[in-house]
Amino acid sequence: MNQAKSIKDLLPFLRGVRRISVLTGSGISAESGVPTFRGEDGLWRTYRAQDLATPEAFDRDPALVWEWYDWRRNLMASKEPNRGHRVLAEWESRFPEFTLITQNIDGLHQRAGSQRVLELHGNIWKMRCTREGTVRENRESPLSPLPPTCPECGALLRPHVVWFGESLDSEVIQQASQVSSRSDLMFVIGTSAVVQPAASLPLATLQAGGRVVEINPDPTPLTPHATFTFRGKAGEVLPRMDEALSSSGAEEGEEQ
Ligand code: OAD
Repeated sequence: MNQAKSIKDLLPFLRGVRRISVLTGSGISAESGVPTFRGEDGLWRTYRAQDLATPEAFDRDPALVWEWYDWRRNLMASKEPNRGHRVLAEWESRFPEFTLITQNIDGLHQRAGSQRVLELHGNIWKMRCTREGTVRENRESPLSPLPPTCPECGALLRPHVVWFGESLDSEVIQQASQVSSRSDLMFVIGTSAVVQPAASLPLATLQAGGRVVEINPDPTPLTPHATFTFRGKAGEVLPRMDEALSSSGAEEGEEQ
């Protein structure tokens, strides 16, 4: 049984830990109005990943793929970070060593103030030249013309995101793996924990003797392995944890 009775039960494990990491998925942005992939209104319920999120799909029909990404960019452009994102941004200075690893491409963690973010799957606000590999930021929404081309060499630009069948940026995944196996505690928030290699990161933490705390309204394949599970929305559970941490810190101060 790994269901924490209350946030209070978690506090002794949080006090004094040095290295904390967090792995987030689309669920943390759900309360901002960004659709998840596998939930009730998830993108993969309506769209086929192989038609829109693979290198083959892009080779076949770059305009179609770009239309879909442009639609998603438009949708995300109006969304704001929520309380969950903001708590994680504050935790960067609360804990001595804190690393945020995300599968999300929406950039909401950075907009909430997180400065060190390992983006496993890239960023939808960046584009990459298919010829030279140069990456540039572009927040234009809607994009015009579609598909966009490289201002320097005229080749097609592609979204700077990881598609199915592609490898993750080797430096990013190496850093994420290293951080995971060195973490005293990893929070896993708003991810169905089914997409590799991200899903293996919390297992690396556990294997190295660290603890894993899952925050998700629904069970996932990680749930049976998690040290603690909090069933709830990130935007509700994280502020409650933050509040409990703040008041427990005050108590400690009083005792000294
Ligand atoms: P999924 O859609 O697979 O999972 C979203 C998870 O968030 C589910 O487990 C939900 O129960 C949970 N959830 C929903 N609302 C929540 C809330 N308010 N608070 C906390 N959790 C909530 O999304 P990901 O796990 O992010 O990859 O998907 C992983 C990868 O699959 C994505 O990065 C993307 C996708 O295909 C690529 O495109 C390469």
